[in-house]
Amino acid sequence: MKVTVVSRSGREVVKGGLELSDSATVTDLQEAIHKRTKKFYPARQRLTLPVQPGSKERPVVLNYKKSLKDYISENSDNLTVVFKDLGPQVSYKTLFFFEYLGPLVLYPIFYYFNVYQYLGFKGDRVIRPVQTYALYYWCFHYFKRIMETFFVHRFSHATSPLLNVFRNCAYYWSFGSYIAYYVNHPLYTPVSDLQMKIGFAVGIIFQISNFYCHILLRNLRRPDGNGGYQIPRGFLFNFVTCANYTTEIYQWLGFNIATQTVAGYVFLVVAASIMTNWALAKHRRLKKIFDGKDGRPKYPRRWVILPPFL
Ligand SMILES: NC(=O)c1ccc[n+]([C@@H]2O[C@H](COP(=O)([O-])OP(=O)(O)OC[C@H]3O[C@@H](n4cnc5c(N)ncnc54)[C@H](OP(=O)(O)O)[C@@H]3O)[C@@H](O)[C@H]2O)c1
Repeated sequence: MKVTVVSRSGREVVKGGLELSDSATVTDLQEAIHKRTKKFYPARQRLTLPVQPGSKERPVVLNYKKSLKDYISENSDNLTVVFKDLGPQVSYKTLFFFEYLGPLVLYPIFYYFNVYQYLGFKGDRVIRPVQTYALYYWCFHYFKRIMETFFVHRFSHATSPLLNVFRNCAYYWSFGSYIAYYVNHPLYTPVSDLQMKIGFAVGIIFQISNFYCHILLRNLRRPDGNGGYQIPRGFLFNFVTCANYTTEIYQWLGFNIATQTVAGYVFLVVAASIMTNWALAKHRRLKKIFDGKDGRPKYPRRWVILPPFL
């Protein structure tokens, strides 16, 4: 079979095309492109079928698990694919590791080192119990997320663009420092003992619930990450599509009740709005996949993220 690989502007990416066996898969094609171009390893490649000029249709993306025969008409022996370079890629585990490492390392710096003396605050710094508990709570949270990244989540996408590492790190590292700065500040005013206890208790309950939600999500996939998207069931997933985000939001609320800083609440609002957007998209996707037609189950009625509002 002859495969012609062109860019979106129609320029040939692999000069003279590629000769592949009739049983070749999309993965074989990606490897053949890599061999000829050297630079474009498979995770960097997005291969689609050509669309008619001026057409508003979305191009069909070639599935790496499928055979090339699935994309050509029966009596043809030629295939043209459109190649797009997705840019340098990193694994999802690398992306998550670096974005969570920042807050895990930066927060304790504000607690253990009197950085405030370089910012004009002279005199002794008295560390309050709430600041110590907040440090443990914070570090436990990000340590848990790193452990979940490596040992719990079963990602469906192997890689993410390298640029996302810089974008996500900017988000997590700057918010981590912003909150750490205010919670550990020498002029920080602690909340009452009761409020602190309620806050941390709420936070810990929701951190444990969040972990359990991740175990339930993990069990929806096979160990190799295959199995697509399933209807999440059990525990809070019986009521909310993105129960993992719900519990994430409530655990940050618990932290904020206990520590009470503007910085912490700003982060809560920003994180909740990001997760709400993602949850709406995930809810829509599950409703589309499980539409109740042709033997497919119908997605049950559920809240999206924050019952009883959404
Ligand atoms: N504080 C913040 O700003 C913030 C923001 C986002 C997330 N988080 C925390 O980080 C955690 C992970 O975030 P995330 O966005 O990666 O979560 P996610 O996409 O909802 O789910 C985590 C894992 O479960 C898989 N999964 C989700 N729904 C599935 C379904 N219906 N069927 C099969 N597998 C499914 C996902 O697969 P795919 O690989 O296919 O996606 C992913 O590997 C969150 O639960 C939350 O605790 C915090």
